[in-house]
Amino acid sequence: MKRYKTGVNVLSNLRKGAFHMDSDCFASEQITNTKESDELCLPIDEVKPGMTCAHSIEDRLGRHLVNSGAELNSYVIEKLKDMGFEYIDIQVHRPSQHKEDLKISRKAMLAIQRERRPDPPKVQLGRQIKTQITKGMELMYTDTQPTVLSDVSDRIADELLKAILKNNAVTLNLVELETCDEYTFNHSVDVGTIAMVIAKNMNYPLRNVREIGVAGILHDIGKTKIPLEVLNKPARLTDEEFAIIKKHSLYSYELIRDIPTLSEQTKLGVLEHHEKIDGSGYPNGLLGEQISPYAKILAVADIYDALCTTRPYKKGYTPRESVEMLSAMTDQLDIDVLNTFFTSMVLYPVDSIVKLSNGEEAKVVRNNRTMITRPVVVGLETGNVYDLGSLAHLDIVIDS
Ligand SMILES: [Fe+2]
Ligand SMILES: [Fe+2]
Repeated sequence: MKRYKTGVNVLSNLRKGAFHMDSDCFASEQITNTKESDELCLPIDEVKPGMTCAHSIEDRLGRHLVNSGAELNSYVIEKLKDMGFEYIDIQVHRPSQHKEDLKISRKAMLAIQRERRPDPPKVQLGRQIKTQITKGMELMYTDTQPTVLSDVSDRIADELLKAILKNNAVTLNLVELETCDEYTFNHSVDVGTIAMVIAKNMNYPLRNVREIGVAGILHDIGKTKIPLEVLNKPARLTDEEFAIIKKHSLYSYELIRDIPTLSEQTKLGVLEHHEKIDGSGYPNGLLGEQISPYAKILAVADIYDALCTTRPYKKGYTPRESVEMLSAMTDQLDIDVLNTFFTSMVLYPVDSIVKLSNGEEAKVVRNNRTMITRPVVVGLETGNVYDLGSLAHLDIVIDS
């Protein structure tokens, strides 16, 4: 994460751009890496909607405003101007001078055609909705009055529920979440979204799914009461500082305890979202069944998000690494919730290109619902079909 002050210009090194591919492999036998990107420091008056922010942006209080890689819209640009930002680092895409062609053999194309099964419908949040949600979260973090917390979390949960109900979406693309900072407003929205998808797939009634979303949106609001020098400390926390951070779930609970429109379960979900079933959590060290069902769901969503988080002193784990670490936490997390998480999320969407540990480039053609890190893939040159979830191919993993 990068701390910006008004008027600070930063130009950084060339970065490789996103992999760009033809969306219909059958129409073309070549997939071409056509883009690279670098950065340009632009006066804010020259920044236009649709441009991509090269680094995350914080205000003077250290509050996270914009994610690295986020597409800027007119609202955000105006807001940054109002706040006195004079320059923004923008990602600039330009045609690659080194065309890297990947060939798909005839055999591979036939195998892809034969084996391909589309992913189930995924939750998708439109850009406009994301902007509205960000505005709402910003408001909540600057004004923690009960009416604001209740109204805004209600509205955001409604939008998330609509997105989940649309197309009967039952899965979430983890990579699309692009979580990167524990203290962004996005973290709470991501936790709320993941938690709602889990709850829906655990067959909770919609009323409860919505409540779990509200709990996710509010779960870390107590961090507004933690001193910023502790919250944003660019180094590992001391035991004393960690004890201060640990108070945030209690603070979150205190901020919402007297809101009559929130259910008891919602409030308990917020209070207990750091409890662990082996009793190692906080604030009360509750065990298994003592922990509220909402909190068990929030814990899985929150830990996944925290693992992916890049902090000033540690790089976030990749979504795949985070999923693997989460799967090793069966002593601490509810097994039903974990299993539902693993069957509700998509890590490698069908049609994405991956690099296998045997050196082959491959295309994802089908996801294994119970093993999200091990889909079925087809080698682009050999046309070999690898069901990475089967015993026969356990020795092969996806490297990137
Ligand atoms: Fe938390
Ligand atoms: Fe959190």
